[in-house]
Amino acid sequence: MTRKILVTSALPYANGSIHLGHLVEYIQTDIWVRFQKMQPKEKVAECWYVCADDTHGTPIMLRAEKEGVSPEQLIDRVWHEHKRDFDGFHVGFDHYYSTNSPENREFASQIYLKLREAGLIERRSIEQFYDPDKAMFLPDRFIKGTCPKCGAKDQYGDSCEACGATYAPTDLIDPYSAVSGAKPVRKESEHYFFALGKCEAFLKEWTRSGTLQAEAANKMDEWFTAGLSDWDISRDAPYFGFEIPEAPGKYFYVWLDAPVGYMASFKKLCADKGIDFDAFWGKGSTSELYHFIGKDILYFHALFWPAMLAFSGHRTPTSVFAHGFLTVNGQKMSKSRGTFITAESYLKHLNPEWLRYYYAAKLSNTMEDIDLNLDDFSARVNSDLVGKFINIASRSAGFIAKRFGGKLGQVPAGQELLARMQQAAGGIAELYEAREYGRALREVMALADLANQYVDSNKPWEIAKQEGREAELHEVCTVALNAFRLLTLYLKPVLPKLAENVEAFLNIAPLVWTDAGHLLAGHAINEYQHLMTRIDPKQIEAMVEENKQTLAPTPEPHSQQRHAGHQQQVAKAEEAAAGWEPIIGIEDFGKIDLRIAKIVAASHVEGAEKLLKLTLDVGTATRTVFAGIKSAYKPEDLVGRLTVMVANLAPRKMKFGLSEGMVLAASDERGGPFLLSPDSGALPGMRVK
Ligand code: 2FM
Ligand code: ZN
Repeated sequence: MTRKILVTSALPYANGSIHLGHLVEYIQTDIWVRFQKMQPKEKVAECWYVCADDTHGTPIMLRAEKEGVSPEQLIDRVWHEHKRDFDGFHVGFDHYYSTNSPENREFASQIYLKLREAGLIERRSIEQFYDPDKAMFLPDRFIKGTCPKCGAKDQYGDSCEACGATYAPTDLIDPYSAVSGAKPVRKESEHYFFALGKCEAFLKEWTRSGTLQAEAANKMDEWFTAGLSDWDISRDAPYFGFEIPEAPGKYFYVWLDAPVGYMASFKKLCADKGIDFDAFWGKGSTSELYHFIGKDILYFHALFWPAMLAFSGHRTPTSVFAHGFLTVNGQKMSKSRGTFITAESYLKHLNPEWLRYYYAAKLSNTMEDIDLNLDDFSARVNSDLVGKFINIASRSAGFIAKRFGGKLGQVPAGQELLARMQQAAGGIAELYEAREYGRALREVMALADLANQYVDSNKPWEIAKQEGREAELHEVCTVALNAFRLLTLYLKPVLPKLAENVEAFLNIAPLVWTDAGHLLAGHAINEYQHLMTRIDPKQIEAMVEENKQTLAPTPEPHSQQRHAGHQQQVAKAEEAAAGWEPIIGIEDFGKIDLRIAKIVAASHVEGAEKLLKLTLDVGTATRTVFAGIKSAYKPEDLVGRLTVMVANLAPRKMKFGLSEGMVLAASDERGGPFLLSPDSGALPGMRVK
């Protein structure tokens, strides 16, 4: 049957720049779409790729306010930046829209009303923190206060960065609004909930119908076991978003209208191109619908979204393809290491197709994380793309131009190398279809090795020096350039721009997959122009240098590495994406007196789960500090060790005694706490700056 396919990538938030983490997904999706578009019409009649900026929510509203512009002005500016970056990486959307569109308002409202009709919308009052100065309810991330566990000041409403405790914002001591500084009050308001629990039977069936990767299906089972809770889909004014029909002052939560943005973007494309919208979204549609997403937003795409679609009279996704996160040099992207690299900055220094190739070489169809190792990146690109692939053309093209008037010769019937390369088309296609790009590229590079062996053993540069061997030279160069053409064809989904330049050089129509079935003979080609340069590691160094930010501990990007999974995390994700405030100036930083401290005694604290009591020698004085490091250290191992402490922190009275400072330790979900230590030579009392 002829396939009709609609593909989406997750909609990036309109309050941050596109970075290399985002690009894993857009490149992965774009390769798949380009591959589909190279298929003959009898196989794939239509394949459309749509996306949009995700524009609503509190962080965008507050950011616009801070910049002194309207939210519409902010999202318009960001839309252009995002579009520029995607174009720069050759991500070929058929349509790139905005969730703040009339189509999206219409669909979101329609879907909501259908869900309401189906008895799936419930209303109830909830109590939340409210900022009386700003007259707005405060999401968890916008409430700060003193940690109820360790007493650390200025902690967020969901977890303490000092001791790692998690809690509800209501547990904070002396809470204040991160927006205005005001003391928040508790206030009730009515919220609208989507009764996800009532969709459980449908979701269980949908999950088990082969729509999800194995790892994703397992995750779903965990969620079913934990129980599906109702989803709060409303937010109170002021909120940048769509007002809920018949509910003045209530707005759709950003995550309600975000996936609807897939439909809205496609709807606009349909209007522009005369495509039949219902053939793709109507109930019972036989078209295929695929969502490429990061594994952190599986909950939305595998639970909320299919349920919203099914109970509002639409089709459900054919599959949701989740990928893993990006690490750079084996670690989370980091601003201080310069590995939090924006698309814009990458493009200033490096060729986008290098990254497309490297990501493709690392990608499979699983949810495993992928690592961009910057040394491996340049080694691999230089060896595969320049050393193996481009080299084939650069070694043969000159002879065709100089000795044969720019015209290819004939290919002997049954020429072994080319026959083998042509036969590989089907297998490589299957790998692309299955999103096994790494394996596809290994096959292609194995063919490139064979082509190089052919050139090396026939040595055209030597034949060229000998008289009477013109025909042989012509044949060898013709075979080599045919091999190059086939390799270009197989690499085209990954390297679209390079393929375009090769098509111009070979003077051929845009390559499609069935072109593997024939060869070029007696064909005039154009003069060879240099197709790709090597990466100079200095370019990478310059890029990393440019991205290094020495300012304050800026938090890691949340638009990529969120750990969404349930409602509370969802809210966090949205709010965290606002950027981490406040950025402090050097003067503020200078107020913190960090000192080398020697642990002279350490002991357990009776009744404390996490704390150890440390006695610290800071050169001129001895301090007692309660530190939340019990899970990782035995007291006796700490005695004699040097560490770093905040020496001018106001003493805090804790349940177990007075804590006169704080020691520094690192931790996140990957491990810790790890106590910081200076290099040898440091002495108690030395200032750290
Ligand atoms: O995680 C994110 O960046 C969200 N803006 C993705 C939305 S995808 C879809 F549901 F719209
Ligand atoms: Zn704490």
